[in-house]
Amino acid sequence: MQTTLSQSPVDSLPVRSSDASFLRLEAITKQYGSNSPTVDRLDLNLGKGQLLGLLGPSGCGKTTTLRMIAGLLPISAGRILIGDNDISHLPPHKRDIGLVFQNYALFPHMNVGENVAFGLTMRGIGKRESLRRAEEALETVRLPGLGKRRPKELSGGQQQRVALARALVIKPRLLLLDEPLSNLDAQLRDQMRIEIRDIQQLLGITTVFVTHDQTEALTMCDQVGVMYGGRLAQLGAPEEIYERPASMFVAQFVGRTNVLTGEQVSHQQVRIGGARYRCSGARPHWRGLKIAIRPHRISLTPNRDPSLLSTATNCVQGLVAAITYIGDVLQYEVDIGCARIRVETPTGSSRLRYKVGDLVMCEWLPQDMLAFEG
Ligand SMILES: Nc1ncnc2c1ncn2[C@@H]1O[C@H](COP(=O)(O)OP(=O)(O)OP(=O)(O)O)[C@@H](O)[C@H]1O
Ligand SMILES: [Mg+2]
Repeated sequence: MQTTLSQSPVDSLPVRSSDASFLRLEAITKQYGSNSPTVDRLDLNLGKGQLLGLLGPSGCGKTTTLRMIAGLLPISAGRILIGDNDISHLPPHKRDIGLVFQNYALFPHMNVGENVAFGLTMRGIGKRESLRRAEEALETVRLPGLGKRRPKELSGGQQQRVALARALVIKPRLLLLDEPLSNLDAQLRDQMRIEIRDIQQLLGITTVFVTHDQTEALTMCDQVGVMYGGRLAQLGAPEEIYERPASMFVAQFVGRTNVLTGEQVSHQQVRIGGARYRCSGARPHWRGLKIAIRPHRISLTPNRDPSLLSTATNCVQGLVAAITYIGDVLQYEVDIGCARIRVETPTGSSRLRYKVGDLVMCEWLPQDMLAFEG
């Protein structure tokens, strides 16, 4: 198995837009000095009230994109629109955007209420009215009555909720969140994911949520944008990104996958290591063929004569080489001759278990083989 990319994962990929666009990025570009662009002609349309997850490896340009939308970083080229307004060159405080960063960035010398009210007092709203609205925002994030505390007297999760209340209090048209949960422990993260999603839906606020956690992107968001090298490798609903990745890069970045090298035999058939499999999607003009199969889409059955198996599935004999117990799943490494594939099966007392050295049949449906050029 190999995981190399032989071509740019963003060449000629479909980037879909939502119907009613509210936030529009038109070929926005950020170039530092004479380096190649950090964000490169990025197009994106997001519908009103939608939650977009921006996902991608470290350094791919997620924060840069967010900072350009917020106006904290000037764009080198392109346009940013909210509704019909071109906000590309407006200063940050005129963009009507709420921002939450990974490190809560609360003012330590102010109490929680003053922290949340800050954006309002800056906009010339009186102190009493600002504090009243701050208390309302604290109720929205389920922290009523904590306005008098100092930030350091709150837990990490509570501080992040204060940061969220501070962003929401100005009633922004757009909310931008840059890895807001990455400093929280796993359990709190799960809880905050649900809370942020609930608040976002309650307020109907259009939101861009940067993360490099794929679970976060898939579970919370209406749309997921996968970035690579300053460009969008794919934009789509979570299920679309997972089930129909536009490139091998997206298939590997979102979810686990086996990668096999093959060649096309016919429109409906590929060959991998001498054996033929039913698989559509490969194109004759491709320079090479790589196949992705998700480990949990392969099932293991006891070894038997392949001719006795249904022709509706693909099947290969393998030898169990290693087993890892990961609580909810068992991960098998199965040697199929030309490669070692990973197979994941849910654990459960009624399930058949195999041992290292067992001969098994690996079976999967043709539609679970995703073909890519490479
Ligand atoms: N002021 C700067 N001058 C030059 N290069 C910069 C500057 N700021 C950021 N970069 C580069 O731009 C690239 C994208 O950075 P960015 O912070 O947008 O990545 P990211 O996707 O948010 O990554 P992470 O997941 O690690 O937060 C990186 O290679 C970074 O080194
Ligand atoms: Mg970042």
